[in-house]
Amino acid sequence: AVVSLPARVLSGRHVIVTSGPTHEPIDPVRYIANRSSGAQGAAIAAALRDLGARVSFITGPAEVPPPEGVAVVAVETAREMRAAVEAALPADAAVMAAAVADWHVANARPGKIKKDGSGALPELQFAENPDILAWISQLGRERPSLVVGFAAETDDVLDNAARKRKRKGCDWIVANDVSPATGIMGGTENAVTLISEAGAESWPRLSKDEVAHRLAARIADALNAGDG
Ligand code: CTP
Ligand code: CA
Repeated sequence: AVVSLPARVLSGRHVIVTSGPTHEPIDPVRYIANRSSGAQGAAIAAALRDLGARVSFITGPAEVPPPEGVAVVAVETAREMRAAVEAALPADAAVMAAAVADWHVANARPGKIKKDGSGALPELQFAENPDILAWISQLGRERPSLVVGFAAETDDVLDNAARKRKRKGCDWIVANDVSPATGIMGGTENAVTLISEAGAESWPRLSKDEVAHRLAARIADALNAGDG
């Protein structure tokens, strides 16, 4: 049988991919998290690998397993994820597909919080997590030449995503509508719009694998054109 393999247009390139949720501890047995399955990030890492890239896959505790043939760094919190991204630099491109928790619990306890019998409720204090996408986008010499973020929104999707791209300083934003009615969060399909300086391009609803392959091909085009 004749099998056509994808051209290895990303060989010699290093790409960092973040994926999955982060878990932010409340105490040793409890945490704050979100509904990210990690499926889109894993598919992107696999697609980049298929094009010959060396992939550093930095993942929170995801439902889907990491792809084979990538360097996996498993982390739990946003702060650990940022440190792992920094340790993986330099890179030609970075794709921040993780659903990073926006806050961690500033008064997380070293021991399990117990009911004390009085009905008193624990009070959690929150502190903002580092914004990994904004940080890497604004790096100097070590900034990857192409930085891609995601914007999962439920309202005014394109406006919010375009503003997010500007605010954070990344090159591209992959925007998607994660309203419960779309069934995208936790599902196998995605409907995205790729937003760059040049404008917005909406792709049809596709499998997460197909979205990943298209995005990987676009990343290869941009890096090889030197216009990341
Ligand atoms: N992101 C990140 N670090 C964070 C928060 C977000 O790297 N602490 C990245 C995500 O991986 C994604 C992009 O930023 O690529 C947008 O994430 P999103 O949660 O949509 O943006 P926020 O700035 O957190 O805005 P919002 O208030 O809408 O959650
Ligand atoms: Ca957020």
